[in-house]
Amino acid sequence: MEQRIFRPVQYSKTTITELMIPTYANFGGKVHGGILLSLMDKVAYVCAAKHAGNYCVTASIDHVDFLQSVEVGELVSLKASVNFAGSSSLIVGIRVTSENFKTQTVKHTNTCYFTMVAMDENHHPAHVPGLILETKDEIRRFAEALKRKELGKQVRTHMKQIKTPLDLDEYKALLVKENCKIEI
Ligand SMILES: CC(C)(COP(=O)(O)OP(=O)(O)OC[C@H]1O[C@@H](n2cnc3c(N)ncnc32)[C@H](O)[C@@H]1OP(=O)(O)O)[C@@H](O)C(=O)NCCC(=O)NCCS
Repeated sequence: MEQRIFRPVQYSKTTITELMIPTYANFGGKVHGGILLSLMDKVAYVCAAKHAGNYCVTASIDHVDFLQSVEVGELVSLKASVNFAGSSSLIVGIRVTSENFKTQTVKHTNTCYFTMVAMDENHHPAHVPGLILETKDEIRRFAEALKRKELGKQVRTHMKQIKTPLDLDEYKALLVKENCKIEI
């Protein structure tokens, strides 16, 4: 019989810290959201690939709110840990903070959840090791991720149903109070 592998959350916990340099800035002088997304994807990959012992791809992100802007010169830290292990997917929770040396303040800029899928050599989803839960928080995060995964499935099904063939009169009625002008 195949021996199942389990790994503790600690095994793959990952932190990336990066200085926000001027080339990361947008026209408003703040750090581009895309820079932060790229760093989140990177830390999610490292964390998931370490737990899985395998190459992983990003399947979905749930979801990103930029709570506070990040300034050039600040030090951004991204803390990632595996919150949930499915059959071939892992949900990685990421907490992002940004530190200003001068004012000695640390702000929480966002928390989000990346679903990463382990892939085999033939580019098919591969089994991932289970998760050993050693604290109450780890149990809570696993259970919350399970609920979020189920909710995500329902939302995706629902979204498919939203895409209906265009009924112009129905759409005109729906958009009547919206900030748009129909000119056909
Ligand atoms: C992600 C991907 C592997 C899923 O393939 P698939 O044929 O749908 O695979 P499955 O239906 O077997 O699903 C595999 C797992 O992914 C999960 N999954 C698939 N799509 C998902 C989505 N949109 N959101 C969350 N989870 C998802 C499934 O729930 C399943 O989890 P489980 O095995 O733990 O139960 C495939 O869609 C893919 O390769 N996407 C491109 C990924 C990519 O290029 N990312 C960006 C660059 S890394």
